[in-house]
Amino acid sequence: MTSTRAGLDKAPADVAAMFDGVARRYDITNTVLSFGQDRGWRTATRHALGLGPGDVVLDLAAGTAVSTEELAQSGAHCIAADFSLGMLKAGHKRPVPKVAADALTLPFADESFDAATISFGLRNVASVDTALAELYRVLKPAGRLVICEFSTPVFGPFRTVYMEYLMKALPSVATKVSSNPEAYVYLAESIRAWPDQAGLATKIASAGFDSVRWRNLTGGIAALHRAVK
Ligand SMILES: C[S@@+](CC[C@H](N)C(=O)[O-])C[C@H]1O[C@@H](n2cnc3c(N)ncnc32)[C@H](O)[C@@H]1O
Repeated sequence: MTSTRAGLDKAPADVAAMFDGVARRYDITNTVLSFGQDRGWRTATRHALGLGPGDVVLDLAAGTAVSTEELAQSGAHCIAADFSLGMLKAGHKRPVPKVAADALTLPFADESFDAATISFGLRNVASVDTALAELYRVLKPAGRLVICEFSTPVFGPFRTVYMEYLMKALPSVATKVSSNPEAYVYLAESIRAWPDQAGLATKIASAGFDSVRWRNLTGGIAALHRAVK
């Protein structure tokens, strides 16, 4: 069993190696640890993007392309991009184009995409501002951005319970289901260190995006941020 995790500096080689280590059981671990909520979050992301046939869409940090396959149900042309070859390989049966790409230096021309999305990926990049600048660059004018990411539960007592769950239960549950339990210690730490809904909205606006809005999913365990170039 691989036992590797990244630190909160999100050093790219460590992050890629960590996801290589979870790739084999990534999809099932996600579903177990989120009590099946992940499926609804992916559907909400697809709806928020307002996709249709003819749209060209970047799914950045797509991992096993589980998120990309969901988006492709819209009839849009959806491209999965990720820098963990292990994650891309684990999704090899999913019938979407896959590109090895670093979010901080995207291998796409300016103004290539009608829409771009990143689900549970932005929290893992070494520079959030650089990744947002790259997403801005590759979107066409008026292109839509949707970010699906863990966030801060809005109901105070639940927030306390949730953070306890994360800190104490998550790593031990992960030991039973994941191919790399250490990665789920990182997951808990990185969620706690991540900006809340308003904080992320400020970062998105600072990257140049307009009409930044968010909506909470499952009481703020996750949030969908939307914006337009
Ligand atoms: C938690 S997974 C999310 C996968 C998928 N989007 C989903 O919703 O299940 C995070 C992904 O982000 C990728 N990632 C992290 N930093 C990245 C970077 N700088 N460039 C490209 N991919 C990155 C990891 O390799 C991993 O596959």
